[in-house]
Amino acid sequence: ARVGVIVPAAGSGVRLGEDSPKAFVDLGGSTILERCVSGVVGAGIDAFVVVVVPAELVGHARELLPGVTVVPGGAHRSESVRAGLDACGDADVILVHDAARPLTPPGVFRRVLDAVLAGHEAVVPGLPVVDTLKRVDTLKRVVPGDGAEAVTETVDREPLRAVATPQGFTRDALLRAHADDGGLATDDAGLAERCGIEVAVVPGDALGFKITTPWDLRIARMLVS
Ligand code: C5P
Repeated sequence: ARVGVIVPAAGSGVRLGEDSPKAFVDLGGSTILERCVSGVVGAGIDAFVVVVVPAELVGHARELLPGVTVVPGGAHRSESVRAGLDACGDADVILVHDAARPLTPPGVFRRVLDAVLAGHEAVVPGLPVVDTLKRVDTLKRVVPGDGAEAVTETVDREPLRAVATPQGFTRDALLRAHADDGGLATDDAGLAERCGIEVAVVPGDALGFKITTPWDLRIARMLVS
């Protein structure tokens, strides 16, 4: 099968609080984006790679990643993925992998790809949730000065999975998932679910964590040092 990998890297990374957009922040001597693309290549899955970056950084990204197709993204993640999809040529299997998960080990790429090749239309890597989860709302009993919230429910975590990327799709499934505007969707599998496509979960890996906050960046820098 011809495999395409779309790497959405067009987010601003406000929650990270760095000067550059998240994918262009340094992680042990190269950018998060370069490390992520090395991870994709290092996974050994002969694939066509399309990287999606903020429009003003297309030139810079092309210099950083010679030989990789770089296209400008959109205002929402799903728009960026669609821009990548348009540049994906005739791939019959497409993996979408967030730049913000640069330490994802090769085994995760292979498990996801193998599951698509085995016949699943959509595949995500997932891990059991370790924390106890509570649903919250605003407090009825307001105590002046604190920002506390009220617990309304403890959620059963047993049937829940924390889902990461790469997310793998047949070309047809990803096109159907993105046929409508994805709006604020945080992942592609969510769009596939909405179309009634069954999404399979394979084991993820803790190293596939997403760099979102300054804390995550500290952990990632320690891991690569
Ligand atoms: O914000 P978050 O970390 O969930 O974003 C996930 C991924 O989607 C990141 O790699 C980010 O660069 C990408 N993204 C994008 N275009 C946007 C917003 C996010 O490519 N407009």
